[in-house]
Amino acid sequence: MAKLRYGIIGTGGAGQGKHLTSYAQNPDVEIIAVCDIIAEKANQAADRFNVEAAYTDYNEMLREEKLDLVSVATPNHVHAPATIAALQAGCHVHCEKPASLTPALVRSMVAARDKSGKKLMIGLNNRFTNWAQFAKAFVDAGSLGEIYHAKCGWKRRRGIPGKGGWFTTKAQSGGGPLIDLGVHFIDVSNYIMGFPKPVTVSGQTYSKFADGQAFNPKASGYTGTYDVEDLAVGFVRYDNGCTLDLEFSWASNIDSEYSYVELYGTKAGLKIERGQVTIFQDFNGTPLDSKPKLKPETGWGMAECLHYTECIRKNKEPIARPDECVLIMEIINALYKSAEKNAEVKIKA
Ligand SMILES: NC(=O)c1ccc[n+]([C@@H]2O[C@H](COP(=O)([O-])OP(=O)(O)OC[C@H]3O[C@@H](n4cnc5c(N)ncnc54)[C@H](O)[C@@H]3O)[C@@H](O)[C@H]2O)c1
Repeated sequence: MAKLRYGIIGTGGAGQGKHLTSYAQNPDVEIIAVCDIIAEKANQAADRFNVEAAYTDYNEMLREEKLDLVSVATPNHVHAPATIAALQAGCHVHCEKPASLTPALVRSMVAARDKSGKKLMIGLNNRFTNWAQFAKAFVDAGSLGEIYHAKCGWKRRRGIPGKGGWFTTKAQSGGGPLIDLGVHFIDVSNYIMGFPKPVTVSGQTYSKFADGQAFNPKASGYTGTYDVEDLAVGFVRYDNGCTLDLEFSWASNIDSEYSYVELYGTKAGLKIERGQVTIFQDFNGTPLDSKPKLKPETGWGMAECLHYTECIRKNKEPIARPDECVLIMEIINALYKSAEKNAEVKIKA
């Protein structure tokens, strides 16, 4: 069987470090073309991964190369237009997270997928980790009983990505750590819980580090934009009575970087802390904690990219579906609205 003809749009950090590195090792894929709006970046990626064709315009690449599979690893505001263009060109698309900037844009990507008959998967690599797969199977087996509350977060002491670039420019990123880091852990928490329907969100955002260390326009003469939050906190209520408490930051005066998911169940609790799983139970009145020995992780994106080509070949629905990303974007969007209004926001049914 001929290999899948592969191309990529956006050859920056995730494009090279995750997509090109993983697909280059995928025996079912031949890397045909790369595209980056900056010619030097496209050429550098082409040299590094031994690819003949380098483009600066993704429409031209899609027209010329007749690709089967395309990755989109651009700044967030390019995800929807590039994904839709690739679907319309007859390609399966593996688009980075967050799917896009708003629920309406994610819906437009889902509609384009449905019209094209091709597959669209979002790069939610945390779903493919051994800890998430274990937790999902454990919850699906009923081992926690009823999950009535959950907590998730990812906090950094100092970790604002590309300060002054697209990450900190709301029109291009859609927001700060809530959309950047939160999309991973809100997603994986909802995935493990089986996607209950969110009904209201209350939250607050803070921006306290815009003029802080390494980004002081007055002192440095630097003119980049910083119009996003650096801390977001929130509380989600679901239609099944369950609640979710969340916090995401790029910069806070805390001990050190920390990520977690905690599930409170009637039969047991489950905590994922920096990728380690602990289960909390009670045996005849005695607390019983257990730590499953999970298989070692493969490289960043490796399991995800292998899964995607298998879905294409066997016509299976990918694990990280864009339809579910609409719900995650609804939560993120409602939290930003709640922060603006200083009030709880309802998510429309
Ligand atoms: N899944 C993960 O763990 C993970 C980690 C990092 C980043 N990401 C996501 O990957 C995406 C890219 O992030 P990054 O850190 O690689 O950013 P980056 O800035 O390093 O790379 C983005 C690249 O896209 C290029 N680009 C911009 N507009 C383009 C266009 N119209 N056509 C072609 N190329 C264009 C830029 O020149 C740049 O080289 C983001 O959506 C980010 O959220 C995901």
